Amino acid sequence: MISHLRVKRDKAEEAKDFLKINGYLNGDYLPIKEDGFVLWPLNLDSVPFEGTIVRCDGVSYTKHSRDYRSNLSNEVRIMAPRSFDIFGDIAILRLVDDLDKHKVEIADALLLSHKNIRTVCVDLGVKGDFRIRELEIISGVPNFISIHKENGVKFSADISKVYFSPRLATERERLYSLAEKGEVILDAFAGVAPFSILLAKKGCNVLSLDSNPDAKKWALKNFKLNDISSKQYSYYNSKFEEYVFGNEKFDRIIMNNPTNSLIYLDKAMNLVAEEGVIHLYLIAPKEDSFAISDHLRFGYECTGKKEVHAYSPSSSLFVFDIKRNPN
Ligand SMILES: C[S@@+](CC[C@H](N)C(=O)[O-])C[C@H]1O[C@@H](n2cnc3c(N)ncnc32)[C@H](O)[C@@H]1O
Repeated sequence: MISHLRVKRDKAEEAKDFLKINGYLNGDYLPIKEDGFVLWPLNLDSVPFEGTIVRCDGVSYTKHSRDYRSNLSNEVRIMAPRSFDIFGDIAILRLVDDLDKHKVEIADALLLSHKNIRTVCVDLGVKGDFRIRELEIISGVPNFISIHKENGVKFSADISKVYFSPRLATERERLYSLAEKGEVILDAFAGVAPFSILLAKKGCNVLSLDSNPDAKKWALKNFKLNDISSKQYSYYNSKFEEYVFGNEKFDRIIMNNPTNSLIYLDKAMNLVAEEGVIHLYLIAPKEDSFAISDHLRFGYECTGKKEVHAYSPSSSLFVFDIKRNPN
């Protein structure tokens, strides 16, 4: 049994800040939510803050108890999403329409159970050529800027102005393990440069393009944040189809614009070196009705197709590895 400070919900954040600043908050336990009240776990038996001291079993801060849904009422818990995306200290939830009236309760439950989350927003969909997520902040600090860590690198971004998906971390790691030091890479739809930076870390030289000026702004910050030498990268704010290439050929071309990449494949096939590879990301039907071979020129072959993640009930994000064979 440990002591908890029981305060009204509208005083919960104020109480938490007070307890934290003064070292009274017991970080080994989670807060407990009860009708209109929050119980903050304490390091001692009394604290100078308005509320009631309650002794009860603490909810230990284990992985299991980090299921934020344990803080929800039964009615909401069964419908609330089990998983959500995280960008740094911002949680991004996708909610079905029925949950709209419960979104604040859900967001508060997340804030209560995840110490590292400071902002909770709802994803209203990715829109436009820049693939920007429409986001609505539901609870916590009203902020869209954060620093996200993945695969040993850091990305800063304003996620209301640029695209970023933490769900591609495994895919980025895959390309990191495939690439070799010294490769010349084209990241044709680079965003805030998550692929470019990881491959530069491997010792590759990267040319990155993106049509969104904000993506370039954050990407340049990110190259610096990760101590990438300026000799290893160039980033241009340009549409891939409008960028004028010289005679250079690329060992690896990343085409991560899954809703609109197939129309650019022909141009990419002109740019890839012999025995080089194009990684084409594409939304395609889950069943095998799409044949990438119909889109490949003579001398190019698909050496691998992988489902990255589901996109809708009938379609998924796939990556096709396309190799240019020697002449
Ligand atoms: C799905 S996002 C991928 C960003 C990045 N590769 C990542 O993994 O985070 C696609 C990116 O392509 C950019 N984009 C869209 N159309 C483009 C085009 N025609 N030429 C260059 N960039 C484009 C968007 O601004 C967006 O940043």
